[in-house]
Formats: sequence, structure tokens, C-alpha cells
Amino acid sequence: MNPRDLSDHVAYEAGRGIEEVARELGRDPSTLVKLASNENALGPAPAAVEAIEDAAPTISSYPKSAHADLTSALGDRWGVTDGQIWLANGADGAIDYLARATLRPGDRILVPAPGFAYYEMSARFHHGTVSSYSLEREEDFEQTVETVLDAYDGERVVYLTSPHNPSGSTIDLEAVETIADGTDEETLVVVDEAYGEFAEVDSAVTLIEGTNGFEPRDDVAVLRTFSKAYGLAGLRLGYAIVPEEWAEAYARVNTPFAASELACRAGLAALDDDGHVERTIEMVTDARARMSGAIDAHVWPSAGNFVLVDVGDASAVAEAMQDRGVIVRDCTSFGLPECVRITCGTDEETARAIETLNEILAERRDESEEANADASPPGVRDS
Ligand SMILES: Cc1ncc(COP(=O)(O)O)c(C=O)c1O
Repeated sequence: MNPRDLSDHVAYEAGRGIEEVARELGRDPSTLVKLASNENALGPAPAAVEAIEDAAPTISSYPKSAHADLTSALGDRWGVTDGQIWLANGADGAIDYLARATLRPGDRILVPAPGFAYYEMSARFHHGTVSSYSLEREEDFEQTVETVLDAYDGERVVYLTSPHNPSGSTIDLEAVETIADGTDEETLVVVDEAYGEFAEVDSAVTLIEGTNGFEPRDDVAVLRTFSKAYGLAGLRLGYAIVPEEWAEAYARVNTPFAASELACRAGLAALDDDGHVERTIEMVTDARARMSGAIDAHVWPSAGNFVLVDVGDASAVAEAMQDRGVIVRDCTSFGLPECVRITCGTDEETARAIETLNEILAERRDESEEANADASPPGVRDS
């Protein structure tokens, strides 16, 4: 027998890992730099590592109190009730829970294109269908009310990503509010803030709570993760913050013990490790500015821990960078075959990425000038 027809499902394309590339190239992994998956170049919050070591002997028990403690700490941090925090196996897991809580077979979601692939994948797993709104490179991937509402046609869920992956653009709260006002009562607007700590825009939790002059809303949810600013991508810990009215639904849709004991204990410790988050934000801010200023190609302004660069031929440039030990993300799978996305690294990693990319861009320019000269008629070439 076979699985059901999965022909309209696509596999998630993750950024390439150091071990995988090292094996393929026959190189020592320590000579490679990975700036392909928007991870935290400073590593995990040290307090989280300690908490994992302390909690390791307890993992024969199911994580009941750890889950409750983390939910409660996050509720306090955001000023919402515990029921409004839906812990999950990464923000990806929270996307699944929102799909389970919203979609009936055939319901549609609206997603940005280009955009984060898992919104669409998750909707399809849950028997939903997908339409998209286009963010244009000529408009710096600007996320406007018109772009979203012009494409909106009664979808059950509308995804906004702020900061947006892969471009780094953001959307302000007034625009989110206008979009939520402009959609049906039964439409949930999900603001994915996986990179929220790196941006100087307020969280859309403000709209759920109804603070800072906004009315409280029951049709906006927010996604956050420990994978980026807290450096816990390998643990898989994220959450949705949902309207108060949605609190009851979590128990009906979540996979039992949605986050592991180690993840919850590490998350609790990481939340208190403000120093690590501050150092990470400082590193990211600095790396973004350096890449924007020094790369010899167009770099889009970014509020995330990465930049998008127009290199002309993404797969050729990403491959050439990889051959020289720097792994970046070829954005062809995002529908941007001319762009690579580079994660902000440490000082040295960022310097190496800039130098390597500039070298390759210069070589490619020289090659293309030579090819043009060879192709020109003699009279023109000699003049
Ligand atoms: C926009 C966006 N949302 C969600 C996620 C998923 O994060 P997590 O690691 O918490 O599942 C990512 C991961 O890269 C992302 O880029």
C-alpha cells in the first residue's frame, strides 16, 4: 500500500548544514562558515545550556510542570493569560496548531510570495489550499495594506511576516490593524515575528491586548520563536500568542507535551538571559550595517538577522561561495533566482562572507566583460 496522494506537497528546503557540505567537499568542517539558516552565530544562551545539563537527569518524566512554568513566564512577559500562549515544537509547530484550529478541508490561506515555505506546507497537510499576495523586489518587498487586501478573497488565515523572510522588510501595526479590519470576521491574521527581536517595530501582541491606543482584537495571532535571538534552533521551541477567546482551543489541537522538558527548561533560562539577547542584537545590527555598506551589489534594507543580496545568478554565486567555505542561502527556491540570503555572523564570519562574495562578484564581472569583448565585432572592440 502507499501513502495518500502527496503530489501537491513539496519538501521543505532547509539551508545546507556544515557537516553535509564538509562531507560533500571532502573538507574539515571547522574551515567552513554557515550563514544559510538564520541561526544565532553566538550560539545558545549560556544559561539555557546550563539548564539543559541540570534537567537532563529528569527526562524520564513527561514535561508537565516545565510546560506550565514556561507558559506562565511567557504570559507574564507579554501581559497575556497563560491560555493565550500556545507552546510548540518551534514556530513551525505553532503554525500547525493554528492550521488545526482554523482550517476545514478546502479552506484557503493567504501567504506572501516570496515567503516562508512552511505556511503553505502546513495548510496542505491540514487539507487546506493556498493563495498568495506578491511582494515585489522593485518595491523593496514592501508589505502594504493594498497588496494584501487586493489579493484577499475570504481566506480563513492571512499570513504577514515581520520581519519578512527572505527580504527583511517589516509591516507596521496600523497596517496590520487595517488588514484585520478589512478582512472577514472569520479570518485570522497571523503575524509571524520569528525575527521580532531584531526589528525596531512593536510586536502585534499590542493589537491582541489592545494597548497603546489599539482596540483589543480576537482575530490576530502572533508567532515567536526561541530559534533566532535566543540561539535554541536545535531544541525546537516556539509559540503562538492567540486572542483570549482562543485559549480553550489549544488543549483540543496540540500534540500532547508539545514542547520537551529540556526545551521548556532551556526556554525558561534563556528568557532570563537578557545579556545574551542583547549581545546577539548588537552583533546582528553591526553585521547588517557592514554587509549593506561593503557588499558590491544591491543589499535590501533588513530588520532581520540576515540580508538579501542581488548577485545576478544565485545558484552560481552560492556554489562558488560554498567552494570557498562560506555557505549562504540560494533563494531560487523562494522564487528569487538572482538573490542570496546571508545570515549575520560574528565579526570574522561576516568579514569573510563580504570578502568572499566581493571576490566572486569581481571575478564574474571580469569574465563577463571578457566574454562581451570577445563577442564584439573587431571594429567595435578596437575602437
Ligand atoms: C519567517 C519564519 N517563521 C518561522 C520560522 C520557524 O522557526 P522555528 O525554528 O521556531 O520553527 C522561520 C525559520 O527560519 C522563519 O524564517
